[in-house]
Parts: sequence; C-alpha cells; structure tokens
Amino acid sequence: MLFILSSPCQTLSSPRLYFPNNSFSGIKCDSAKVPVFPQKTRERSYLIERGLEFSPGDAFFREESATGRDLGVLAASLHKRGNGRLRVLDALCGCGIRSLRYLAEAGADFVAANDGNENYGSTIVENLSRVSSEEEGRWVVTHLEANRVMTDYYLQKSLFDFIDVDSFGSDSSFLRSAISTLKFGGLLYVTSTDGFSSGGHRPHHSLAAYGAYVRPMPYSNEIGLRMLIGGVTREAAVLGYHITPLFSYYAFHGPVFRVLLRLNRGKIHDTRHYGYIGYCQQCGNSHEFSWDQLGQISCSCSVPQVSNSLVVSGPLWTGPLHDGAYLMDMLNLAKQWGWIGCDGKDNLEKLIRVMMDESDPKLPFGYIKLDEMASRAKINSPPLKALMSAMHQKGYAASRSHIATNAIKTNCPMTECIKIAKELLQVSVT
Ligand SMILES: C[S@@+](CC[C@H](N)C(=O)[O-])C[C@H]1O[C@@H](n2cnc3c(N)ncnc32)[C@H](O)[C@@H]1O
Repeated sequence: MLFILSSPCQTLSSPRLYFPNNSFSGIKCDSAKVPVFPQKTRERSYLIERGLEFSPGDAFFREESATGRDLGVLAASLHKRGNGRLRVLDALCGCGIRSLRYLAEAGADFVAANDGNENYGSTIVENLSRVSSEEEGRWVVTHLEANRVMTDYYLQKSLFDFIDVDSFGSDSSFLRSAISTLKFGGLLYVTSTDGFSSGGHRPHHSLAAYGAYVRPMPYSNEIGLRMLIGGVTREAAVLGYHITPLFSYYAFHGPVFRVLLRLNRGKIHDTRHYGYIGYCQQCGNSHEFSWDQLGQISCSCSVPQVSNSLVVSGPLWTGPLHDGAYLMDMLNLAKQWGWIGCDGKDNLEKLIRVMMDESDPKLPFGYIKLDEMASRAKINSPPLKALMSAMHQKGYAASRSHIATNAIKTNCPMTECIKIAKELLQVSVT
C-alpha cells in the first residue's frame, strides 16, 4: 500500500520528520512492516570509526561492517569528485553512521537518513549534528518504511546520486523503488545477508527474491554476489535500464554480500552476462550456459546428453564482479586520505588489490578451492602461490579470491589444475 505525504508538516522538505506510531494512521500501517527489535538499552557509549566519533545508541550496529562502509564512502566521494554533486539516500541507516560518513568524509551536499525504527531518532540526529546543524538543511531524518521513503522521493522527482540499502536477509523488495529513485549514472549500494540462499539451501526462496534457482556449489559465496547482481539486473531491465557492477564485496561476518552498481539508461538486449552456471560433481569443472543452450546442458566429461552430474543454478550475473580501473581510483583515494597503512595490517589495501586482480577479464565466475582439488586428486595441495605461478606459466589466468583465502580464481579447469598440482608435487599424473 502506498501513502503519499500530503500535509505540509509531512513534506520531505521538512528538515527532520518523526512519525510517532499513533500520529497518523497511514504511518502506523506502514511501520508495521518494519521489524522492531527488542530494545537492549546500551550504556551511552561512543565509538570512533575512521576518526569520527559517533554513538551507536540502541541501534543495530556492527563494527565488523566498517570495511563495507569504507568502500561505500570512497565510492560516494569519487562520485562527488567526478560529478560535482552528491545527494545520498541512506534508506536503512541504523544509528546513522553511514550518513555521518557520507556527510563528513565524502562531502555529501545532502543526506536523507531513514530508519523505520523511530526509537533511533535522537541517536541519528545527535550523530549527524556533529557535521552540521539541522537548520543548515544538509540532512533530514525520517522514520518510514524504506520503500515508502524511496517512493515518496521518486514521486516528488527528487532523485539521488547514491542510494545505500543496508537491509537484512534477502529483502529484494527495496530494489525497484531504489532504482526508480536513482539518477542515471547514479550508484546503488545494495546488500544481502542471506547465506542460506547463496548456499543453495533455499532455492525457492532465492527464486522468489532474486529470480534465481540456486543450488549448492563449491563457490557459493561468489554465487551470493552473482545472485544479488542478477536480481538487480532483472529489476533494472523491468524499468528499461541496465547496471554495471563497480565492485562486489563478500564479508564472512553476517555473511554480508554487498555490491555497488552504476545505473545506466536503456535496456540491453545482450544476455551475455546473465545466464546459468553449472558445476559438474563428477569432474569438478564449471561451465556457463546461455539461454539458448537450455535443454542441451551437459559436461564434456560425461555422455553428451543432459548430465546428471551437473548442478545448475541461475539465471545469475555471470559477468565481471568489479571494474578494475574504478577500484584503482578507490585505492588511490584511500591512500590520499591516509587510510592505507594506518591499521598496521593494510587490510583495506589487500582487499582492494585482490579485487583488482579478480577483475581480470580472462577470469570466469567461481574459484577452485584447494581443499576440494586436493581431495579429488588424493594429494596434499601444493602451496597456493606455487600453484598460481605454475598456472600462469602454462598461460592460464589465475588470481586469489577475496572471498575464500585458500582458493584460486582461474580459467584453468579443475582437471588441468589437478595435473599441474601433481606435476608440482612430482606425483605421477595418470
Ligand atoms: C543492517 S541495519 C543498518 C545498519 C547501518 N546501516 C550501519 O551501517 O550501521 C538495518 C536497519 O534497517 C532498519 N529497517 C529494517 N527494515 C526496515 C524497513 N522495511 N524500512 C526501514 N527501515 C528498516 C532496522 O531498524 C535497522 O536499523
């Protein structure tokens, strides 16, 4: 059900909107869809992220998500530098840490910070007031259902350059309203935390949420990113647009799947990057299948009819997960800001560099887990570095995966990888 803001005191140009549950019936109905967690009152404590002090209040907040926030802030700042303006909608803002960072670090001209839970209101306002006063109008705080706030802005033709949808589970219901409310060339930063669906344990659920029937595969966490991008690809196509992934980030905690996508005008009728992924349980090789191959799906290791050994998932995004040049710009900005080398571990630099390696256009989807390779070959795996350099010598593309530490992204098939590993270990190759 859609409720349009109508009375003057409820327009989105008001600097800050609080809608107590009983204030008007429309809001009451809408906010009923927002999960409200039992209030565990935290001690009034303050945290610091990238030098910015803020209060998490009683809001849902995870320190481990700081890297995802860093990546979002770098991208938002690049957008401001490239386009000269930055209007951000933080649709599920929690305590407002992202909104604070988009204002303070990315130099956002305006941030709309929304969280369905009105109990977080004073915390969000306190946090954003550290950057500018409410009266200056650089930010507004609302407590609406996320689809409603996005749709209201869309109906007012008040579009955004950057929309952050930091949702729980596989709530894909936000995708269409977010796409509608984004300017062309704008950036959409979306989330899934549904590890059951990406792991292939709820294929009917992933089908409903992202239009993809996902089955268990050895590189399921990469499938999670491809499922999410595929879902946005489909929603964008419905509206006559298409998207380009700029980066895709998986984090173990949660798990969290986050992708940053640029919205482009126009449909593309090329389904090269939207198809089916098959994994052969018999030989361990993976294959991509296009729509016109449906009904003829097989693996070359078995009879040329439909192979029972193949596990097929899709449709999914099968194209690049990142744009390497864009990641390089992010890395340079992080260096300029002194973010690199300051934690003593250089985790952000390592992450962005591995993502850049993963951007090699010769690399297909998926990765080979060395444990799986070793168990198929009945050998101990050689060291990852040695295996990667042997693959390079044989002319294959190979890189580490930011998703799985003991895995190689490569265009080398599993069967060939086993041969190379055996050669390295000087085990007889049969
Ligand atoms: C993952 S948390 C946000 C965390 C925050 N972005 C951060 O980085 O710390 C998701 C937030 O969405 C809010 N929420 C959940 N469903 C919502 C909905 N349908 N509309 C608006 N807010 C919602 C919750 O109250 C919660 O604060």
